[in-house]
Amino acid sequence: MVNSQTYRPRHRVDAFFRTIREDIYAVRKGDPAALSKISIVLNYSGLHAVWGYRIARALWVRNRKLLGRSVSQFTRFLTGIEIHPGAQIGRRLFIDHGMGVVIGETAEVGDDVLIYHGVTLGGVSTKKVKRHPTIGDRVMIGAGAKLLGPIEIGSDSSVGANSVVTKSAPPNSILTGVPARARSRAPQLAHEPGDWII
Ligand SMILES: CC(C)(COP(=O)(O)OP(=O)(O)OC[C@H]1O[C@@H](n2cnc3c(N)ncnc32)[C@H](O)[C@@H]1OP(=O)(O)O)[C@@H](O)C(=O)NCCC(=O)NCCS
Repeated sequence: MVNSQTYRPRHRVDAFFRTIREDIYAVRKGDPAALSKISIVLNYSGLHAVWGYRIARALWVRNRKLLGRSVSQFTRFLTGIEIHPGAQIGRRLFIDHGMGVVIGETAEVGDDVLIYHGVTLGGVSTKKVKRHPTIGDRVMIGAGAKLLGPIEIGSDSSVGANSVVTKSAPPNSILTGVPARARSRAPQLAHEPGDWII
């Protein structure tokens, strides 16, 4: 597994292009229907949404909040995917199909997360506090799932399609149902470091 903390690119340009390559590779890895790289760049709304988010986020953290929010809303207009620029998204997020995904302002998403269409990482409070979910690394969130409140979903977990999750779950959980119930599964092998050398 590549650790974000220990990854130190020498140049920002290197980091920029590496991020783009990683995002494309995440699509290839997550979608068996993916064709060539050029097809991925042209046709994957989830990829466009992640790139739109990265621009919006860069503006947001530089205190260009109005511009950041506007880029976010324009990206939503183009892709049907709304990622608030205040959300913290890890590396290689892949949003498959994408339409209807909402990721709220205080959500945190780890590395190598796979999200299908119709997923909401939403809040249940109108107070300006941490009110959205925290998602660990390598979590899969099935189509239509709603994760609500400042809950934590442990790494290597899977959330079933159309589940409604309102409670935290430890790593290696499988969550299904309304309200979702967690069962554990045997830990999976983590990605080998070579997996992401692209
Ligand atoms: C939750 C999920 C990861 C479980 O996978 P799994 O561990 O292989 O589970 P299984 O298929 O063996 O099913 C185990 C049990 O959970 C039930 N189950 C599976 N998915 C469920 C769901 N989304 N909601 C409710 N129950 C579900 C199964 O019916 C089965 O019940 P049973 O033991 O009473 O027969 C998977 O079913 C899922 O929902 N993946 C999302 C995929 C998706 O959104 N794809 C969109 C592609 S466009």
